[in-house]
Amino acid sequence: MTPNIGDMSKPAIASIEGGATGLATINTIKSITGIDLDHMTALPVINGKSSVSGYSGKAVKPIALRFIHELASHSQLKNVPISGIGGIETWEDCIEFILLGSSNLQVTTSIMQYGYRIVEDMISGVSHFMEEKGFDKLEDMVGIAVNNVIPAEDLDRSFVIYPEFDTDACVGCGRCYISCYDGGHQAIKWNEEDRKPELIKDNCVGCHLCGHVCPIQAISMGKLEYKEID
Ligand SMILES: Cc1cc2nc3c(=O)[nH]c(=O)nc-3n(C[C@H](O)[C@H](O)[C@H](O)COP(=O)(O)O)c2cc1C
Ligand code: SF4
Ligand code: SF4
Repeated sequence: MTPNIGDMSKPAIASIEGGATGLATINTIKSITGIDLDHMTALPVINGKSSVSGYSGKAVKPIALRFIHELASHSQLKNVPISGIGGIETWEDCIEFILLGSSNLQVTTSIMQYGYRIVEDMISGVSHFMEEKGFDKLEDMVGIAVNNVIPAEDLDRSFVIYPEFDTDACVGCGRCYISCYDGGHQAIKWNEEDRKPELIKDNCVGCHLCGHVCPIQAISMGKLEYKEID
């Protein structure tokens, strides 16, 4: 199935109605990966010209997972086997695709980058994971996460989890402050003297952008508080 489409379920349903017994998704994503600034054309430059080409590999994984969820959760595609493709590199990637509904997997770009041996790592990692979690068969893991992806408006927004700053570990880089100030909610006060962040709780929405940008993981999930209901 091509990902160069907004709603993949339409061609997927048509394929099944037309006799397909399974769906393989995703194929490459149409893209222009960059412009050569000297030749002023897209990459790769072929005698001064280029074309729109297909993007694949690690960067496309989130898009692949989104489409696989779309198919796996569709009422008209129940029990249709899905072959998951798109940016799979590690055993963790394999499990993510399986949990979202893929009953088998395909790998292209990472084999081109690292060779077939990575499949042995994938098998080993998936086997250890299954043992640790108590799964006997791969089929038992297929689609477990599908129903845990719900419309954004149905998410529980009744609470906030505030960030907790480990000020002893903090190296004073200021990244949390800048990100929250310029891209968040101005909920961090910056102490110029000791170069440490301080939470302004009333402004904080619990987005955890600060934790994502901290280079040393000095910001963790802190106190959970329920919001006041008007
Ligand atoms: C060099 C190359 C050639 C490909 N050729 C085909 C093809 O002939 N038919 C097809 O359906 N998909 C083709 N694909 C798409 C892959 O099967 C796969 O869907 C896509 O690359 C995403 O997976 P990946 O991130 O593991 O590469 C090709 C991909 C690459 C990188
Ligand atoms: S959780 Fe979000 S709003 Fe709160 S301090 Fe961090 S970046 Fe700012
Ligand atoms: S991003 Fe991390 S290390 Fe940098 S100031 Fe904030 S808490 Fe400290």
